[in-house]
Amino acid sequence: MTTRAVVRGVGHYLPDRVVPNAYFKDALKLDTSDEWIVSRTGIERRHFAAEGETTSDLAEKAARAALADAGLEPGDLDALIVATSTADLTFPSAATMVQGALGMDRGYAFDVQAVCAGFIYGLANANALIVSGQARRVMIIGAETFSRILDFDDRATCVLFGDGAGALVLEAAEGAGTPADRGILSVDLNSDGRYRELLYVDGGVSTQTTGFLRMEGKEVFRHAVEKLAKTADVALDRAGLTSAEIDWIVPHQANLRIIKSTAAKMGVDMDRVVVTVQDHGNTSAASIPLALSVGKERGQIKQGDVVATEAIGGGLAWGAVILRW
Ligand code: UT7
Repeated sequence: MTTRAVVRGVGHYLPDRVVPNAYFKDALKLDTSDEWIVSRTGIERRHFAAEGETTSDLAEKAARAALADAGLEPGDLDALIVATSTADLTFPSAATMVQGALGMDRGYAFDVQAVCAGFIYGLANANALIVSGQARRVMIIGAETFSRILDFDDRATCVLFGDGAGALVLEAAEGAGTPADRGILSVDLNSDGRYRELLYVDGGVSTQTTGFLRMEGKEVFRHAVEKLAKTADVALDRAGLTSAEIDWIVPHQANLRIIKSTAAKMGVDMDRVVVTVQDHGNTSAASIPLALSVGKERGQIKQGDVVATEAIGGGLAWGAVILRW
């Protein structure tokens, strides 16, 4: 028998304020257009957090939705991980703030920071805690308020990102050790710090500034197209599955052109890809759990389906997780 980390519940939360593409041209007077944003990225709208609404606020709401879906109480969790690059405070972690807000008075909580690949890294950590017997139930939340680190004078970046949160509850279950098991089947993680300058925030605690997101979009695009299909293939191979057996690719939602090109490289038709980028923009670590939750709500992802998730972001950091829902 093999211990597997199986999905028990999923949920998400999006801030009330919906910002259409027209906002950047009409309200901010930027030299951009709905046509450019849609044709280059697939993004039509995104949500921005209200003034005073923080990452841990979004995370807490997504956590409550996932707990309700799982039929669990906060005290049933052994561990809580938040993947974020936009925590409320330098410390404590967003995860302990969510733990406190939920009234979860046991277990442990910590943050994972791998930017847009954060949820993949969070899943990998949660899986490791479960298969090593250190936890039986782990919640992983991806939550971001990227609107707070956008330079609204830079049309090349500010139109791309949005705010939101998604959460997944994983629970230990015994499997046969075959690809037919439910749960996380394989993980592939990578990073290469030589590419730091391609996507970063030009501020932080140690530099005593908050900073803004900076990106060499074309270069990141090139790396994404090259690396995402590869990491998914490595993870598939480790899972003992082929791309023909994937029911759903749930990719990081940065750019529809990247999503399409990765699916094509993997030989998977777009009708087997969960796409939410048109409604959410790029929500960094929140994008995959948001897409998992929306995909389940839409009736796309069902129990027993093979789900392939993949993401790349600042670092560069990238990776993939294959799981059977
Ligand atoms: O989640 C982390 C991972 N991040 C990503 O995956 C993002 C990867 N990169 C991308 O998605 C794309 O590179 C972008 C969407 C950021 C840009 O698309 P692109 O097709 O690579 O455009 P580009 O950067 O080559 O820019 C083409 C033109 C430029 O004008 P010139 O130099 O050709 O005159 C830009 O200045 O489009 C211009 N441009 C814009 N025009 C209107 C850049 N941003 C805008 C804008 N509106 N918002």
